[in-house]
Amino acid sequence: MAVLVTGGAGYIGSHMVWELLDAGEQKIVVLDRLSSGFDWAVAPEARLVVGDVADRELVAGIIREHGIDAIIHFAGSIIVEESVADPLAYYENNTSKTRALIETAVRAGVPNFIFSSTAAVYGGSRLEPVAEDASTMPESPYGLSKLMSEWMLRDAAAAYGLRYTALRYFNVAGADPKGRTGQATRGATHLIKVASETALGKRPSIAVFGNDYPTPDGTCIRDYVHVSDLVAAHRLALQRLRAGANSLVANCGYGHGYSVLEVIEAVRRASGRDFAVTMGPRRAGDVASVIANADLARGELGWAPRRDDLDLIVRDALEWERVLATKNSARS
Ligand SMILES: NC(=O)c1ccc[n+]([C@@H]2O[C@H](COP(=O)([O-])OP(=O)(O)OC[C@H]3O[C@@H](n4cnc5c(N)ncnc54)[C@H](O)[C@@H]3O)[C@@H](O)[C@H]2O)c1
Repeated sequence: MAVLVTGGAGYIGSHMVWELLDAGEQKIVVLDRLSSGFDWAVAPEARLVVGDVADRELVAGIIREHGIDAIIHFAGSIIVEESVADPLAYYENNTSKTRALIETAVRAGVPNFIFSSTAAVYGGSRLEPVAEDASTMPESPYGLSKLMSEWMLRDAAAAYGLRYTALRYFNVAGADPKGRTGQATRGATHLIKVASETALGKRPSIAVFGNDYPTPDGTCIRDYVHVSDLVAAHRLALQRLRAGANSLVANCGYGHGYSVLEVIEAVRRASGRDFAVTMGPRRAGDVASVIANADLARGELGWAPRRDDLDLIVRDALEWERVLATKNSARS
């Protein structure tokens, strides 16, 4: 048994590798083209192969050589606004390349597949938590590129017997509480990351994109899930698939949200620093409020989040920014 983690040099994938190692998984291979990930983010116990998920020969070789029985597929392009500006690039990297990876997995007989999906598949705005059977109407090419991947998995599972779990993440934030990895993307757009960078003086100010949404303070509300809880859900999904369970599509979020201004306040509180906030126009593709109903993940996966606390998420994110600053200065 061995696990192939695509995108394992990225933010969430690098946490996944540590989660698997901590759980005693013996053989882990990371496949990453290092377009937004970093080789140093991959735990030294895992084997890093630098390459593209659509490289069929490379992937088939990895599956054969290491006896891969499960693929956890994180690799992809992730910026909603960028997907609006360049949709074809997103359909290529997220949809076409996922199709190629699924095909390679099916041909090589890999039985288990876990896929990074997103709350962006739902689209629209609801103040109520959204469950998996809600209608899917993505408002961005990013969301649609992920929904199409889910459909391919559904159809491939029905036709070829592959079993999969698609986890629809809400807003992933925070960092490994042991400080081993975190988000290192340059020019990241994730709110908690950007606010933490601003609090530590790495950015002059933070922009709020729109304060005229139909929410109590006018700014967007999101369900922020700690990255360690998120990767724990993947580990449980892997166990469940390996035990022979059926395919599943499940939300990963806590079921309650915070507005942009509430998050900024939490970062001010945790860092003890004030910083400049500018109000800007709405951003393409954003919706007012997105909150998960995660009953299915709790029931089917036995997911029991342990870090459902905005202050804790922010504290881990800030701590990681300090670790990253040390790493960066050591490298320069
Ligand atoms: N971060 C979030 O809040 C969030 C929310 C919902 C879903 N997701 C999904 O989770 C996954 C991981 O996101 P992340 O935040 O860790 O992003 P990330 O950019 O940090 O990681 C993605 C990794 O994939 C690699 N990659 C991209 N295209 C590749 C390709 N064709 N072949 C090989 N490697 C490739 C990149 O180099 C990078 O290391 C993505 O699929 C994303 O859509 C993220």
